[in-house]
Amino acid sequence: MSTPTIEVSNVSKSFGGVVANKMVSMKVEPGKITGLIGPNGSGKTTLFNSIVGYHPIDEGSIKFQGKEISKLRVQQIARLGMLRTFQQTRIYSKMNCVENILISVPHRTATFSDMFRKYPAELTDKAEHLLEFVGLYQKRHLISGDLSFGQQKLLEFAMALMNEPTVLLLDEPTAGINPTLINGLIDRLKRANEEFGITLFVIEHNMRVIMNLAEHMYCLAHGEMLANGTPDEIQNDQRVIDAYLGAH
Ligand SMILES: Nc1ncnc2c1ncn2[C@@H]1O[C@H](COP(=O)(O)OP(=O)(O)OP(=O)(O)O)[C@@H](O)[C@H]1O
Ligand SMILES: [Mg+2]
Repeated sequence: MSTPTIEVSNVSKSFGGVVANKMVSMKVEPGKITGLIGPNGSGKTTLFNSIVGYHPIDEGSIKFQGKEISKLRVQQIARLGMLRTFQQTRIYSKMNCVENILISVPHRTATFSDMFRKYPAELTDKAEHLLEFVGLYQKRHLISGDLSFGQQKLLEFAMALMNEPTVLLLDEPTAGINPTLINGLIDRLKRANEEFGITLFVIEHNMRVIMNLAEHMYCLAHGEMLANGTPDEIQNDQRVIDAYLGAH
């Protein structure tokens, strides 16, 4: 077996009296698409935040490619090659799409002042290529605050790809996206995985999407890992049906 890209062992995280994650263990295997499902408030985003170093965990271990990262901060983890997108998009609404992508590059470079340097043509070309990849090429010079919510999510996806992550954590990538555009997004996520070789870890409430994408899935409920398995196994797991799928 190869070293997991992400290995979470017995991680707990509380906010005041709220136990958001309790002794959670799971793995993301290299090159694969792994899914994470569970009811609202079951601790999915909290787990993402713990993995990427957004907040300290109370106990447990988180490894990236075999190296302990649970004491590292967001920027240090991003530089190792692990990035995430947000449930609510985080773009620079007064900049156009190309500028948003260019300004996301310092995730992997050295200093804050890099944000204000003049960008070489090859970076601009790459940014435009990625905007084409996500279907926003025609909008590349539009102020990003004027994009629709779904388009802003696509832009955020392109911003993450610009940094060539080893692994990308996507928090509800299809939420708010027009159903007719969802198939295109699934296709792009698969291509990012297959063509760019990016390992994906995806939170998703849309069962059709996640069953179609993921090779392996985890289900959280009340902050605890309830089950894991192939999409088929998860779909037929009585505990998952009772806690989550039954409500769908
Ligand atoms: N920063 C915070 N401060 C206090 N409580 C928090 C914080 N972040 C999350 N929580 C609580 O932790 C629990 C898990 O929240 P989390 O956002 O991880 O759920 P989720 O599974 O992502 O839900 P959803 O599907 O609705 O996005 C919830 O009870 C939430 O209110
Ligand atoms: Mg969430």
